[in-house]
Amino acid sequence: MLNKSKNTKNKTAYLILDGTTYELPVIIGSENEHAIDISKLRRETGYITFDPGYGNTGSCTSAITFVDGENGILRYRGYPIEELAAHGTFIETAYMLIFGNLPTNDQRREFHYLLCDQELLHEDLRNHFEGVPSNGHPMAILSAVINSLGCYHPDLLQIETEDEFLRAAAKIISKVRTIAAWSYRKSKGLPFMYPDPKLSYCRNFLHMMHSIPNRRYEPTDAQVKALSLFFLLHADHEQNCSCSTVRMVQSTDANLFASVSAGICALWGRLHGGANAAVIKMLEEIRDGEATINDYLERVKRKEIRLMGFGHRIYKNFDPRAEALCKATHDMLESTGHDDPLLDIAMELAEAARDDDYFTKRKLYPNVDFYSGIILRALNIPVDMFPVMFAIGRMPGWIAHWNETNTDGITRIHRPRQVYTGETSRPYVPLDLRK
Ligand code: ACO
Repeated sequence: MLNKSKNTKNKTAYLILDGTTYELPVIIGSENEHAIDISKLRRETGYITFDPGYGNTGSCTSAITFVDGENGILRYRGYPIEELAAHGTFIETAYMLIFGNLPTNDQRREFHYLLCDQELLHEDLRNHFEGVPSNGHPMAILSAVINSLGCYHPDLLQIETEDEFLRAAAKIISKVRTIAAWSYRKSKGLPFMYPDPKLSYCRNFLHMMHSIPNRRYEPTDAQVKALSLFFLLHADHEQNCSCSTVRMVQSTDANLFASVSAGICALWGRLHGGANAAVIKMLEEIRDGEATINDYLERVKRKEIRLMGFGHRIYKNFDPRAEALCKATHDMLESTGHDDPLLDIAMELAEAARDDDYFTKRKLYPNVDFYSGIILRALNIPVDMFPVMFAIGRMPGWIAHWNETNTDGITRIHRPRQVYTGETSRPYVPLDLRK
């Protein structure tokens, strides 16, 4: 039995187990979030907690991102996502996530120079791209090459100073875009395009993706702005699966390159960063007449499938990132004079789900992945690259979380417990006696 004290100043929870009452301190966050501190529970009671999927478990304290899923609030370092989306760029957001505050003009300029300075890859790294089959998935290449960066920068495998951290962070933020673009070029059999330091972060990425030696790709300002927004909206989302993976790997004292590489692997799954590709597949099937919106909704209700791009562990009202992306998608398509029938289908599907009890009862709303694929299509990004785009955007968040665990002085190696349900002790059976 668990009782919460009424004392709001120093709250304590009381746990009564086998007739003994245990006091459990309550930790209160800066946004008045309450957590019962059970860190001494096993030592004092012999019990552990059981929370599959960790829906009720705070694994750390963190000062990076605040999400209030009930009210659709997302803030990076205190800055509301709506304000960042309206006025910010991806690079200043990345800086702010990693270093805590929006950069001054000088800091912004310095960071820009640092990123330009780091954008080339060591020529030997080209061999890594040669070593994979041409149809190799770009997420596999991205994760492997980011991890390999550690081999080229052994001085940054053990980060002790702020300057080392700054250099490592800038290397990864800058090079991830080159690696991502090259993984795509490899899959198409196209020559690698080198970064152009005269271009902004997002324009440079689109150049490496789409230019060819005898024809330069010139994206519109609206496309570049949309890409910056896409990255910005994906830049962090507190303790989601990939971020927790990065923190978990770091907790072993693993280096930054290896930790974010593990984050990329965790992001790859269909239920996380892979969802936007699944959304496009679904919308295309509806466009091509292979299924109707109603067919999809019925299959969902029969529990045969999940509606991709819907639902969220935290957001139970609306996902503010989805709202910003939906608006940006409309704006970009309008400004470029392009039309994408998939956007109309997506809007229709969202409306049908909004009117359907199955979805409203379970508080299932479009999440960020529902619209992100459409924006990426308008940037000529192929579907295989969708999770890679997510990973580029998420990199500042992963780096910030890695640094938080690396420097907080309290992180212990992450090591959850389990409730064992297997065989109890039994004797070894020699081979000739086994049935
Ligand atoms: N379509 C249909 N039903 C759903 C969906 C969905 N997308 N999501 C959840 N549900 C249903 C479940 O079947 C369950 O129903 P029940 O109570 O009848 O059993 C109920 O809603 C609660 O579902 P949970 O699995 O408990 O929700 P959880 O918080 O664990 O899952 C998740 C969150 C994984 C995002 C889920 O909503 C999902 O699978 N969505 C589709 C994939 C997707 O869009 N992922 C991207 C997430 S955002 C991101 O990673 C950036």
